Amino acid sequence: MFKLSIFLAVAGFALLAASVLVQPAATPQPMPTVMAANANTGRALFLSKGCASCHHHAAISGSGPLGGFDIPDLSAPRSDAVFLRRWLTNPTAVRPGTAMPTLNLREDEITALIVFLSQGQP
Ligand code: HEC
Repeated sequence: MFKLSIFLAVAGFALLAASVLVQPAATPQPMPTVMAANANTGRALFLSKGCASCHHHAAISGSGPLGGFDIPDLSAPRSDAVFLRRWLTNPTAVRPGTAMPTLNLREDEITALIVFLSQGQP
């Protein structure tokens, strides 16, 4: 009985240690809910949110520009993070009548897009 309880204690500790050690790599990151604000996330959002269907970006092959509008090329690195946050939150509030739609992006998505746009060409 004593041996069994020691065995269980050791096994339990080993399982606990394993779960702590293994967890970070094994936990799948739920896609847009918890995302690190990094350029790769921003790049993925540039595609998934439809930016690439309108805008050309040299880092993304096949990206815009969509014809018929005067759409800026976004390849050059940008440092105007404050402006970009306002713009991506609500383009119409910045420039009434603009052809760029409001895309209902979350704060963390906007942050990731800004990181991506601030890097310019890879
Ligand atoms: C339906 C087409 C369309 C989509 C989708 C779109 N844009 Fe735009 N975007 C435009 C147009 C048109 C302009 C120029 C607007 C203007 O100057 O009034 C623009 C302007 C911009 C600018 C430049 C603002 C400035 O004046 O410096 C940035 C940055 C930008 N878009 C980023 C994005 C990002 C990031 C996404 C995706 C989240 C996106 N756009 C999605 C059409 C689009």
